[in-house]
Amino acid sequence: MTSTLAPITATSTTTLPVLDEAGRALLFTDARTANTFADTPVTDEELSAIWDLAKWPPTSANFQPLRVLYIRTPEARERLVGHMNDGNKEKTAAAPAVAVLAVDTRFHEHIPTVFPIRPEMQDVLEADETMRTGSAALNSSLQAGYFILAVRALGLAAGPMLGYDAAAIDADFFPDGRWRTSLVVNIGHPGENPWFPRLPRLDNEHTVTWA
Ligand SMILES: Cc1cc2nc3c(=O)[nH]c(=O)nc-3n(C[C@H](O)[C@H](O)[C@H](O)COP(=O)(O)O)c2cc1C
Repeated sequence: MTSTLAPITATSTTTLPVLDEAGRALLFTDARTANTFADTPVTDEELSAIWDLAKWPPTSANFQPLRVLYIRTPEARERLVGHMNDGNKEKTAAAPAVAVLAVDTRFHEHIPTVFPIRPEMQDVLEADETMRTGSAALNSSLQAGYFILAVRALGLAAGPMLGYDAAAIDADFFPDGRWRTSLVVNIGHPGENPWFPRLPRLDNEHTVTWA
């Protein structure tokens, strides 16, 4: 079956709004990685609202391979803390909410739903493990970045972490092997002395080139 993705026709050009300084500060320039958290709870409604925003980024052929496990019970928290590196245990224990972001290794099963103009791509990806895993890694990372922005947009702070035993988290929380842990994110309102000193960012001069 051949089909094309036709743009929705517009009768005039669209002028997009520009995010104001307060919005830019909240999402980017003033946004920080939280290392301590206040006791203020994060509700299930807030956690659901994160995904309502984070589900919108573009991904290759709309693949959307990222999945989210919210750790809510004290028992699950204790198990997760046990899999974190020593330097991360305390903050994961103290954060009001913790998300384990994961890649759905069988994300391509959703292609007929998420990319209905090319449902046969499901079979292409089933047959090509290199394309499947590469695409899942890139697109889930992109989605994880948007997940952090969504946390910030809701007035919460995120503490992303890669310091953990991924195989242990997978074995404990995803025993069927379909989801693979990609990032653990502490979520909450900042506590006492929540930020480390701001580290320098590379500016245009060192990152951007022109052709
Ligand atoms: C993918 C990723 C992995 C990270 N892993 C850890 C970690 O294991 N432990 C930790 O304390 N911080 C971790 N961080 C936090 C970074 O060190 C922090 O975001 C960075 O220094 C910028 O800090 P800032 O947002 O306050 O400027 C991680 C951040 C990212 C995005």
